[in-house]
Amino acid sequence: MIFRLFLCVYVFLLSVECDPRAEEGYPRGFMSVCPGSTKPASIPRSQLKYLYFVVQGKGRTRQTYNYWDAKNIATDPRIDFRRKTVVVAIGYLDSTSFPISGMFANEYEARGYNVILIDNQRFATVHYYLASRLMRPVGKHVAEILVELTKAGLDPAKTELIGFSLGGQTVSYIARNYQNMAGKNISRITALEPAGPCFRTLSSQERLDASNADFVQVIHTNIDGYGMATRMGHVDFYVNGGEFQPADLNLFPCTSTCSHFRVLTLWLSSMKNPRKFIALKCNSIQEARDAACYKEHPVTNVMGDSVNVNNHGIFYLSTSKMFPYYLGKNGLKPEYASWRRISDINEGNETEVYT
Ligand SMILES: *[C@@H]1O[C@H](CO)[C@@H](O)[C@H](O)[C@H]1NC(C)=O
Ligand SMILES: *[C@@H]1O[C@H](CO)[C@@H](O)[C@H](O)[C@H]1NC(C)=O
Repeated sequence: MIFRLFLCVYVFLLSVECDPRAEEGYPRGFMSVCPGSTKPASIPRSQLKYLYFVVQGKGRTRQTYNYWDAKNIATDPRIDFRRKTVVVAIGYLDSTSFPISGMFANEYEARGYNVILIDNQRFATVHYYLASRLMRPVGKHVAEILVELTKAGLDPAKTELIGFSLGGQTVSYIARNYQNMAGKNISRITALEPAGPCFRTLSSQERLDASNADFVQVIHTNIDGYGMATRMGHVDFYVNGGEFQPADLNLFPCTSTCSHFRVLTLWLSSMKNPRKFIALKCNSIQEARDAACYKEHPVTNVMGDSVNVNNHGIFYLSTSKMFPYYLGKNGLKPEYASWRRISDINEGNETEVYT
């Protein structure tokens, strides 16, 4: 504590801002400067025709709607609001015709969900500072459509949102606006590595937060890089500490981009192996970073769709370095912490071989 105080004074003397939330980003995370991130953002009416909604149904058939005709989704033969519905938000530079949304759509379609993909490529394929800001009006306009669909039978208690990276923040704008307009909560948000750049410095009212839905699950895999360290859900999983992921190739580290995208294959594996990703409860993000949450009688939760929604907190999850990644109950043993197992020349507690 005293040391930290000295450090702060020292850092202050260097006229660098001392961040009291140091444990949430070392030092302030990747791309901590974000020109214009607090400026207002809106989408002109003339551009709303570029906000698309892609419905995927049986046999992976798809039908595309735009903002102006999206209320017709209610009568699409692929849709049946008695079933659960998932709304997928794409990431930065992404498209609904790229593999990531295809993966989400196919997994949920196979589980009998109505699948609606938000195609905001027009607004997510501009420079990043602008894209991050444009997700606010995108979220608002998507919420307007969900409110229309609610009048036609969409049940928010059976509606879930999922998004990766920038999409992990877009889902929060959708859910928050829906909450304000409909007076009801979306039941669940699953945010995979919600984007950190341009969001780290925003308040909890301006980015993903546990208040956005009945239940918010966040999976972190690159918290100081493209992701974000802050706890943003009811349950936050810090996979292998959340900073970097173990490399599949022993000699080549899994740095930021690799660690950020790893969340996708982890999620896919968790869908196929529902109760295998057993995680340990931690007291702080720092404890999760340090893989210091091992206890004799640990509190555990499972990452993925089978997560216990009543067991809130910060969780450390250890994985193996290759698909399907899960360790089952072995993940609760310290000797299975990935950094210990990275190489047998590393005795373990002094040098980290990777990252
Ligand atoms: C909506 O969700 C938030 C966060 O989970 C919760 O605090 C709030 O009570 C919920 N509101 C309703 C109407 O259920
Ligand atoms: C490193 O680990 C070994 C074996 O677990 C232990 O004996 C040793 O005290 C540890 N060293 C430090 C510096 O923690």
